[in-house]
Amino acid sequence: MSPQVADASRGLDHGSIRLSSTYDSPMRQAVPVTAVRTVLTADLTDAELAVIRRLLDVAFDDEFGDEDWDHALGGAHLLVSEDGVPVAHGSVVQRRFLHGGRSWRCGYVEAVAVRPDRQRRGLGSAVMAAAERLIDGGYQLGALSTSDEGRGLYLARGWTPWRGATAVLAPSGVTRTEEDDDSTFVREVPGGAALNVTGTLICDWREGDVW
Ligand SMILES: CC(C)(COP(=O)(O)OP(=O)(O)OC[C@H]1O[C@@H](n2cnc3c(N)ncnc32)[C@H](O)[C@@H]1OP(=O)(O)O)[C@@H](O)C(=O)NCCC(=O)NCCS
Repeated sequence: MSPQVADASRGLDHGSIRLSSTYDSPMRQAVPVTAVRTVLTADLTDAELAVIRRLLDVAFDDEFGDEDWDHALGGAHLLVSEDGVPVAHGSVVQRRFLHGGRSWRCGYVEAVAVRPDRQRRGLGSAVMAAAERLIDGGYQLGALSTSDEGRGLYLARGWTPWRGATAVLAPSGVTRTEEDDDSTFVREVPGGAALNVTGTLICDWREGDVW
């Protein structure tokens, strides 16, 4: 059984959706399907969390720190597994953003990673499609901070680079984050935040990288 088909058979659990880049052939042959499991941090065991953390360490070349991990917790995880082992991951966590004089509910994407030997097979895209579903259904905008490697994925999926200024609502007040201007991407949600991408986007405060 191919890993994809094995995943699909597990994908019947509640919380899973199937994303396919192909379609049923007239011959009804097995089709490649990527099953993405959506699971809350609270519903993952310590062992499952440890395996996800290892995937992130490998994918980010040991540059994924404890604060980065903290930022990926507390919301929903999007997981693709092969034989029970996660090979692709992303998180959506809730944050509050200030923009245009209002506070908006933001679905923030964290810790998107695909095991190096599984990259460029559509898994990152499948994780992002599941993240976008959560954002579109539950938030007023989506946002993320991209790595150099992730930029192509987000552009390919129609995310918008922020062209204005970024800042953070720090304990000392609103503080510019110039170094994050070029890596910030947003996703507009129909009926959600009215975004002016040349304006100022202000994120909430947290330890570690604020974006
Ligand atoms: C970024 C990452 C998640 C992409 O995952 P992936 O499974 O390889 O991505 P996909 O196969 O779904 O790519 C879909 C499309 O996105 C674009 N894309 C993905 N990776 C790209 C890259 N490195 N350079 C340019 N475009 C890229 C391409 O258009 C690609 O379509 P194509 O393969 O038909 O050209 C993966 O490279 C990774 O884990 N990198 C290390 C960790 C990291 O930097 N994560 C991003 C954090 S913001």
